[in-house]
Amino acid sequence: MPTSTTKLSLGLAFLAATSLTTAYPLYTFNGSPSALLARDDNSTLQSCLANSGGYDLSYSTSSDYTALSTSYNSLFDYKPLVVAVPSSEAEISAIVQCVSAEGGKQKLSPRSGGHSYESYSLGGQDGSVVVDLQNFNTIDVNQTTKTAIVGAGVRLGPLAQSIWDQGNFSLPHGTCPYVGVSGHALGGGFGFPTRAWGFLLDRIVEMRMIDVNGTIQNVNNETNTDLWWALRGAGSNNFGIVTQFTFSLLDAPTSIINYAYSYKTNEDCANAVVALQSMTLATNVDQGLAPEFGGELLIAGSAAGDFDGNACQLSGQHISTSRADHDALISRFNTLAGITPASTTVTEYTSWLESLENIMGSLNTSAPITQDQFYAKSLVQPTLATYNYSSALALVDKLNGYAGLQGTGNSVSFDFLGPLSFPNNVNASDSAFNAHTASFIYQFYSYGFPSNDNSDGQQQVWNAFDDLVETAKDSDSAADWGAYVNYVDARQQDWGSAYYGQGLARLKAMKETWDAEGVFWFPQGLASA
Ligand SMILES: Cc1cc2nc3c(=O)[nH]c(=O)nc-3n(C[C@H](O)[C@H](O)[C@H](O)COP(=O)(O)OP(=O)(O)OC[C@H]3O[C@@H](n4cnc5c(N)ncnc54)[C@H](O)[C@@H]3O)c2cc1C
Ligand SMILES: *[C@@H]1O[C@H](CO)[C@@H](O)[C@H](O)[C@H]1NC(C)=O
Ligand SMILES: *[C@@H]1O[C@H](CO)[C@@H](O)[C@H](O)[C@H]1NC(C)=O
Ligand SMILES: *[C@@H]1O[C@H](CO)[C@@H](O)[C@H](O)[C@H]1NC(C)=O
Ligand SMILES: *[C@@H]1O[C@H](CO)[C@@H](O)[C@H](O)[C@H]1NC(C)=O
Ligand SMILES: *[C@@H]1O[C@H](CO)[C@@H](O)[C@H](O)[C@H]1NC(C)=O
Ligand SMILES: *[C@@H]1O[C@H](CO)[C@@H](O)[C@H](O)[C@H]1NC(C)=O
Ligand SMILES: *[C@@H]1O[C@H](CO)[C@@H](O)[C@H](O)[C@H]1NC(C)=O
Ligand SMILES: *[C@@H]1O[C@H](CO)[C@@H](O)[C@H](O)[C@H]1NC(C)=O
Repeated sequence: MPTSTTKLSLGLAFLAATSLTTAYPLYTFNGSPSALLARDDNSTLQSCLANSGGYDLSYSTSSDYTALSTSYNSLFDYKPLVVAVPSSEAEISAIVQCVSAEGGKQKLSPRSGGHSYESYSLGGQDGSVVVDLQNFNTIDVNQTTKTAIVGAGVRLGPLAQSIWDQGNFSLPHGTCPYVGVSGHALGGGFGFPTRAWGFLLDRIVEMRMIDVNGTIQNVNNETNTDLWWALRGAGSNNFGIVTQFTFSLLDAPTSIINYAYSYKTNEDCANAVVALQSMTLATNVDQGLAPEFGGELLIAGSAAGDFDGNACQLSGQHISTSRADHDALISRFNTLAGITPASTTVTEYTSWLESLENIMGSLNTSAPITQDQFYAKSLVQPTLATYNYSSALALVDKLNGYAGLQGTGNSVSFDFLGPLSFPNNVNASDSAFNAHTASFIYQFYSYGFPSNDNSDGQQQVWNAFDDLVETAKDSDSAADWGAYVNYVDARQQDWGSAYYGQGLARLKAMKETWDAEGVFWFPQGLASA
């Protein structure tokens, strides 16, 4: 997914990763992890699993164990007790029942694309039973109803390709072809068309979920309405294993503009933040941003040397528009900000698929995944102006000062939404997702993060990132800042309320109803909130 002009895209970087063998010592498990591991070779659980079907069960001695338990973020090296690779709902149901029979002592974790920032799909600790969903890989489009039934192990690249092949359909989602549909959709799923079409989560019309007793639950706006509310925002390994999603598709647009504008100085970028905030918050299209205009402002600071030596870049997609209208919108932005782009890349497409490939790279995910080593934090800004020029410059300058810290490359992205965007017009109380009313979702992203044998270096970068987040929040310390669960962060303070806001109490009560023993567990699961 690298773009031609920069080494950063959506705040994510693509450097060769170092592989590591040490576990990342972040969590104190509430209980004894050794109890999870101290099993004999033929425990009740293992024989239950062995007797429950013909699917692959990969233990640490199996030849495919390393491949099945390799984390995307190479900082983590969790060792599951076993990785099960079922092919049917009946097999998942049997696995869940075997694990549930352990009364919550044994933890279980589904894995879709495996792109959790903290490798929570490997359990987020050693000793979990991981249910790898890679065989749930079908994508069935119904052209009449304009829906697709999508298996829980499908990745975004093949999803985009397949719905295009089956009728030139599209969906909103992120730009990494290897991200899995499950984590992405259950936790939001931001993409450049999100202002027009919603998050991927907003396109779900139905799910099938296997609960703690192995029972299949249909979940939609009329059946299991509590799960319908909760899974959309808090569905990642809290209530059960989703096996398939039904998505409402969109006819792919036939005119698409992929754009990127880079700005030279830190002062330009501070002006860009203030102008973008003003236009994002506007409720009138003439002063604001048409929903068809989507993207992000990605800032690295002039010292970072990103964007061909520029300090920040506004990039994204503008769909169903004309070049003249696009140019007029950008010109309005530059005038309001009082800035001039130092470089411009604008490409017009009539094929949605080609416009996606320009951003995502190849949609074919048959090649093995390349690991990455990174750390990220997030903020969700309410629909509220917080920045003036000096508070925006304070953030940019601080980021600029951290360029190259401990060998890292650091950026802050502002994914813009606002009142004219589709998500802001969804009734926020209809789901547990916390970013429907956001103006911006931020990502603070560090690539080339220090390895686990450099704990002092890691601490320095963590301190820098805490400082950046505090500097952003200082633009309005009274605002109700949240965090984005799909940029999950083990160091997030008060993570339950940061991810779920007012919904937290209801979610915790539902966790008691659906999984009182905490079988579906990871360090930031609702059992620990
Ligand atoms: C390179 C990269 C690019 C990204 N780009 C974007 C972007 O553009 N926009 C954006 O919004 N986000 C983006 N993200 C974040 C991404 O949305 C999240 O990391 C997402 O949770 C990954 O989903 P997954 O299925 O790949 O993850 P996994 O690691 O497989 O799962 C994530 C969590 O969901 C649980 N889970 C998985 N499958 C199921 C299931 N079927 N039922 C219940 N729980 C399940 C897992 O146990 C785990 O806790 C990106 C991440 C990476 C690494
Ligand atoms: C494990 O237990 C099962 C069921 O009790 C039994 O059939 C099997 O022979 C045992 N395997 C070993 C290696 O002991
Ligand atoms: C598509 O959905 C319609 C309406 O539910 C149904 O009648 C039709 O059989 C479906 N088509 C396919 C190919 O499944
Ligand atoms: C449920 O969603 C469908 C569309 O998927 C819609 O037609 C129906 O009105 C909704 N029902 C409720 C109760 O919201
Ligand atoms: C899909 O789009 C392609 C390229 O834009 C076009 O050639 C083709 O006719 C379209 N197919 C349908 C079914 O509309
Ligand atoms: C993806 O690429 C591989 C290797 O080039 C090829 O074998 C496979 O057919 C491709 N898959 C699709 C869906 O095009
Ligand atoms: C949003 O949904 C809630 C609960 O379903 C409902 O009580 C409320 O009236 C809705 N708000 C709007 C503005 O429709
Ligand atoms: C800018 O905002 C900060 C933080 O809210 C505030 O302290 C400062 O007084 C503001 N500056 C101006 C010039 O308004
Ligand atoms: C699972 O079964 C147990 C025992 O019958 C029951 O108490 C519990 O409520 C069930 N859980 C769900 C989610 O149905």
